[in-house]
Amino acid sequence: MNGSAEAVARTNIALVKYWGKADTARNLPATGSLSLTLDGLWTRTRVAVDPDLDGDAVLLDGRPAPAAVRQRTSGFLDLLRRAAGRRDPLRIESRNNFPTAAGLASSASGFAALTLAAARALGIEADPSELADWARCGSGSAPRSLLGGFAELALDGRGGCRLEQLAAAEDWDLRLVVALCDSGPKAVGSTTGMERSRRTSPYYTGWLDSHPADLDRARSAVAERDLDALGRVAEASCFKMHALAMSAEPPLIYFQPATLAAVRRVWQLRAEGLAGYVTIDAGPHVKVLCAPAAAEPLAEALGAVAGVQRVLVEQPGAAAEVVS
Ligand code: PMV
Repeated sequence: MNGSAEAVARTNIALVKYWGKADTARNLPATGSLSLTLDGLWTRTRVAVDPDLDGDAVLLDGRPAPAAVRQRTSGFLDLLRRAAGRRDPLRIESRNNFPTAAGLASSASGFAALTLAAARALGIEADPSELADWARCGSGSAPRSLLGGFAELALDGRGGCRLEQLAAAEDWDLRLVVALCDSGPKAVGSTTGMERSRRTSPYYTGWLDSHPADLDRARSAVAERDLDALGRVAEASCFKMHALAMSAEPPLIYFQPATLAAVRRVWQLRAEGLAGYVTIDAGPHVKVLCAPAAAEPLAEALGAVAGVQRVLVEQPGAAAEVVS
């Protein structure tokens, strides 16, 4: 059967970060993580079984993917082919509506969409936890993009992970203002960055030890719809992750000058009564969690910060889905 399927998955931004793997072969994170899925930044991926191909064909935004991306994609698809008991080459066409590999979590939406589309195209009847396990093998943040709203990827204590929705997109209306602080791909990818941090930072054990308490705080904040509590733990987790990266050898600094300027502006406005809370991933962009009414004034203020190139206002998004 030459099946095909198309899936859409939205990016997610971690509020309690994962940074470090317990098992690189299985891509098992060393900690849990908690995220918000965004409505407006998505990947749409079509997978078709094509026996006439020589090997997998991978098109990203209409162009043949670089060799490293093709290899990573094919290695990932082998897992699903094995599960389906098939060897067919696949044609993958994937589009992002935002810049790839620039710290906007394209690997999360990318692997979530690829997992759903490939499983359907290969005729696999998978349950949600199997889909989450496969997505995780592609990228540690990808399972969270399978769910809408607030998602937690927890360690299950048995060498695997458990994916759980803490609140749906419509359960808590928040905004994430994204200040794009640089263009172009990031210097050091997250896998390399987190492995370097794990191997060389003297602070890695402190990160692991303090992480469960951050997750507890964030989970309670979501349950109570307490923006201030969630925002404060998100900032703590973000700067611990970056301190870990900066203390690696050689050091990893994902910030650009505009990144720090934007953070300072958000903190200044918060002191003046406009509440926003920052988080930053493995890239220079600053994402600000806030109430809907604060989004426009924050976006305007961030747009005026030197070096900020563009500002987007995002709202909570829905789960990934097969669309055809
Ligand atoms: O999913 P990966 O392996 O690209 O790593 C994601 C790393 C962070 O975005 C910085 C944190 C997270 O939990 O999403």
